[in-house]
Amino acid sequence: MARSAVTTEFADRLKALPPYLFVKIDSLKKEMIAKGVDVVDLGIGDPDTPTPAPIIEACARAARDPANHRYPSNLGLAAAREAAAAWMHTRYGATCDPATQVFPVLGSKEAIAHIPLAFVNPGDVVLVPDPCYPVYRSATILAGAEYHSMPLVEQNGFLPDYDAVPKDVRRRARLMYLNYPNNPTGAVADEAFFARTVEFARANDIIVVHDAAYLEVAYDGYRPPSFLAAEAATEVGVEFHSLSKTFNMTGWRIGWAAGNAEIIAGLAKVKSNIDSGMFQALQLTAVEALSGNLSSWRAELTALYTTRRDILCDGLNAMGWRVAKPKASFYVWARVPEGMTSADAAGDLLEHGGVVAIPGTGYGPAGEGYIRMSLTLPTERIEEAIKRIAPVFKRWQSR
Ligand SMILES: Cc1ncc(COP(=O)(O)O)c(C=O)c1O
Repeated sequence: MARSAVTTEFADRLKALPPYLFVKIDSLKKEMIAKGVDVVDLGIGDPDTPTPAPIIEACARAARDPANHRYPSNLGLAAAREAAAAWMHTRYGATCDPATQVFPVLGSKEAIAHIPLAFVNPGDVVLVPDPCYPVYRSATILAGAEYHSMPLVEQNGFLPDYDAVPKDVRRRARLMYLNYPNNPTGAVADEAFFARTVEFARANDIIVVHDAAYLEVAYDGYRPPSFLAAEAATEVGVEFHSLSKTFNMTGWRIGWAAGNAEIIAGLAKVKSNIDSGMFQALQLTAVEALSGNLSSWRAELTALYTTRRDILCDGLNAMGWRVAKPKASFYVWARVPEGMTSADAAGDLLEHGGVVAIPGTGYGPAGEGYIRMSLTLPTERIEEAIKRIAPVFKRWQSR
């Protein structure tokens, strides 16, 4: 590689980002693969089955139309905003004005990363759950703000305890991230929790950003609520939706923000200076996904994830590893045996079983004592994982 003839030292804000915590497990995984080990990867949270055919066809049709080839409006097509508003109304009972309360985003990750730029000044505080999707923390740091961790512990159903947030932190907090169904814990929140959240946000003047990426991945007939269905939620916050996990479309980068019109306007202002809107063909693809009849496809996908969840959880429980079946999300959050760290457990599973699981500490310090296993790999691979985990778990028990 040619040496740089210019200073390439990273800016302070980039240097301030925490190190990538999966480095060790990643290099161990590469080492094992290089040795020819057939690694079972329970690490990835990325749907392994394809996007439904009618969605792909709608995209192909829209891509052929030259009317869709020019710069789109940042605001998005009315048809796409209306389809998102209708979806939220029929599926969650949430009411949003498509003209002012719905806004297209290029996957929810970029919206999560950009929103603090609109509302948070250096020195402000952002409340972040711990463990969490790591982008909440890095977005806060990139905006020059500080994060205050709200630990998610099993005894509280992995919900934050707002009473534990110190008074001076509440005073300085401008924004709060939440995510239910939750990555990585698989926990869910009920309407009462969202009502408490609105109360807390109002009392302390804190913007709520609810990440609803997994709202459509649920089991046993359970329907997770939308934050926006809570009374007065649109007075205090926004919710980010995504087609990624909802329609097996992680590669397509389609989502939307919904909720408070002024908060949406702030996000829109940031984004109008950074990107140039969503390819219109993708917006029309979203209309097909949200308005088409995919209920039997969804039922099949739910049945598939349910089978996998049951194979993994029943298999672990049968060997004596007590894990709870998640009600939603495609993650199993498993406590590691007493006296072991998350990294020890994940390292052992990989080294002695050829199975990748993510150490809980990758999601924050409060993830210590857990590992995350994902259901987005073929069912027979999950069966294979169980066979391989059993002897490793037996060894742990006989320590
Ligand atoms: C909790 C959570 N939020 C957001 C995202 C990002 O999703 P998107 O594909 O919409 O950017 C992910 C991706 O894994 C996630 O786990």
